[in-house]
Order: sequence, then C-alpha cells, then structure tokens
Amino acid sequence: MYVCICKGITDSQVQQAIDCGANYKDLRRNLGVATDCGQCGSFCKNMVSKAKQTCAFVEVIAA
Ligand code: FES
Repeated sequence: MYVCICKGITDSQVQQAIDCGANYKDLRRNLGVATDCGQCGSFCKNMVSKAKQTCAFVEVIAA
C-alpha cells in the first residue's frame, strides 16, 4: 500500500528501511517521506515507534 502518495513510497519500502535501522530522520532523508505535503509523517513515525517497541520486547525476551 502507498504510504506516501507524493513520493510514491510504499509501506514495504518504509518497513525495509526500518528493518535496516532507519529512524524517522533517515526515512525523510533517504526515501523522501513527509518532505512534500507531510500527510504521511505521522504514519511513518508510528511505524518507527512500533519497530522500536518490537525490538525492546525481543531484547527483554532474549535477556
Ligand atoms: S504523502 Fe508523503 S509527503 Fe505527501
């Protein structure tokens, strides 16, 4: 699904970047999300937050 209509970026592209360690700033700089109308910004921030929560959960289980 398209996350950023302005730049034609999909949720898969955003997720792949996050999986490679990208934060919100990286997403803006490298994919161009939230750099035009800004409507996709909150969605992308939520994706980054969810990934961080998942990582923290995995770290707790692994400890
Ligand atoms: S929808 Fe992403 S900048 Fe407009």
